[in-house]
Amino acid sequence: MDDSEHIRLEDVWYSYPKGEKVLEGMDLTLRAGERLGLTGHIGCGKTTMLHLIVGLMYPDRGSIEVFGTPRTEEKDFWGVRERVGLVFQDPEDQLFCPTVREDIAFGPMNLGRTREETETLIEETLADVGLEGFEDRITHHLSGGEKRLVSLATVLAMKPAVLLLDEPANDLDPESAERIRNLLLQLPQSMIVVSHDRGLLKSVATRMVKLEAGRIREVK
Ligand SMILES: Nc1ncnc2c1ncn2[C@@H]1O[C@H](COP(=O)(O)OP(=O)(O)OP(=O)(O)O)[C@@H](O)[C@H]1O
Ligand SMILES: [Mg+2]
Repeated sequence: MDDSEHIRLEDVWYSYPKGEKVLEGMDLTLRAGERLGLTGHIGCGKTTMLHLIVGLMYPDRGSIEVFGTPRTEEKDFWGVRERVGLVFQDPEDQLFCPTVREDIAFGPMNLGRTREETETLIEETLADVGLEGFEDRITHHLSGGEKRLVSLATVLAMKPAVLLLDEPANDLDPESAERIRNLLLQLPQSMIVVSHDRGLLKSVATRMVKLEAGRIREVK
């Protein structure tokens, strides 16, 4: 079995400008095939940590390795963002095109897929999240839950090696949440699933950790 390290954070410190310390010497490892469940109180730094992994900002101290390579500056993260798919906590941060088709097409087209391949990916990923036939819907007019599912589809369509999911089941009805739970269990990717939903994490995660006082601790 491939148990290579996909992500390794070591002694990571981060505070926002003029803000309190958020991460204080955090260590975290994600291995191939792992589905890591991450919990922690509101405001403890979960979203901050995911954003650091894809280089949306940089740690004050400490190291970030992705696929075995240290990443320190913007160009180091280009390859990371192609292979590590972040689903934002707020779908408004993810979706920026007029229609669902364009939003989902953006990633695969950027990665050099043909128009035809991209159309197939759009259809497949919409079916995966339970939104068949949503291609021509106006993104701006979707409900909160629909936007969350389209956000997930935009990332799945890029076929990343790693998924970072920030509250993937927020604002979903029980049926859609169940669909997402089953989908996550079937996906081959390693993933970090951030959630306040213990039930979701219990059924999906292969390992659970908690972010507390700026550091990670294992949860039994
Ligand atoms: N751009 C910013 N500028 C200043 N402070 C920020 C900024 N973004 C987040 N923070 C603060 O940093 C801390 C960590 O925020 P973060 O969003 O990472 O928490 P979280 O664990 O994801 O919370 P939640 O469970 O509510 O999503 C919070 O205290 C937050 O107020
Ligand atoms: Mg958050």
